[in-house]
Amino acid sequence: MSANNETSRAIWVVGASSGIGEALVRALNNDGDTIFISARNEAALDAIAHAANATVQVLPLDITDEFSVSAATESIRRKVGRLDQVIVNAGTCEYIDSDQIDLTAVKRVMDTNFIGAINVIDSALPLLRASLSFESECRPQLAVMSSSVTYQALPRAGAYGASKAALRYFVEALKLDVQHEGIDVRVISPGFVKTPLTDKNDFEMPFIVEVDEAAERIVSGLKSNQFDIHFPTRFTRILKAISLLPDAIRFKLVGKASRHQSELAIASNQHTEIRRP
Ligand SMILES: NC(=O)c1ccc[n+]([C@@H]2O[C@H](COP(=O)([O-])OP(=O)(O)OC[C@H]3O[C@@H](n4cnc5c(N)ncnc54)[C@H](OP(=O)(O)O)[C@@H]3O)[C@@H](O)[C@H]2O)c1
Repeated sequence: MSANNETSRAIWVVGASSGIGEALVRALNNDGDTIFISARNEAALDAIAHAANATVQVLPLDITDEFSVSAATESIRRKVGRLDQVIVNAGTCEYIDSDQIDLTAVKRVMDTNFIGAINVIDSALPLLRASLSFESECRPQLAVMSSSVTYQALPRAGAYGASKAALRYFVEALKLDVQHEGIDVRVISPGFVKTPLTDKNDFEMPFIVEVDEAAERIVSGLKSNQFDIHFPTRFTRILKAISLLPDAIRFKLVGKASRHQSELAIASNQHTEIRRP
């Protein structure tokens, strides 16, 4: 079965109740397909299913709860017996202040973005493998949402960035281990996208893109051969380029975005004066 052709597919979008996931359901909305949509907010999922053209089935779950995830995959197994495409999009973001690291916030972010995502991947893999034995023209596909923040550490993003970097590493290692089976593994690394998640941010978000544009970029990237689907490229290329600079230069450059920038300037001036003979 192809991600490119018009044949009916069984797709699972996890984290589909708002933002990028909701827009992905709109972008994937193809008459013949069956799209399973999951998240915790059942009422939001019902409204999305109601508005769709494709056959959309609601499977509420919490990705941090193993039992609710395995109940969802068991339901998919009974209904269609396989999955041709799984998009693990669910995630959260909390920023951390250096004056008092909130360990419970770090754990919450890791539990959702890293452990929760792996929980979904683990539960979905048998259904992706089942797709291999169907009369398919194309490989079953697993796409996992990371972030462009993993290219270069950003101020206050320690918990969020670490969770998405850990997830990227896990997905790359998984690709190495399952590619021989014929499973197509991808990672998605957006820059800033306008969603309920970023609406909470109180800082400037360079090159932010609208959510439907992000969904179109993801859907077309998943049809291409690109492993890491990243956008907007004017932002992701800057982050990648900065990450290649010598440490002293990149910390100075990115440090300008820190809330402690003025204190940093004072500290480095004092340091220079102390060293001056
Ligand atoms: N927006 C950006 O700029 C940006 C950039 C890079 C990466 N991302 C990533 O893109 C993904 C989507 O984010 P978004 O910006 O679209 O934010 P969003 O609108 O807040 O969407 C997050 C989705 O994840 C679901 N979710 C969160 N925790 C969950 C849990 N424990 N169990 C099940 N579902 C859960 C939410 O549904 P419920 O609350 O209903 O459970 C919602 O559907 C996230 O992984 C985020 O880290 C976003």
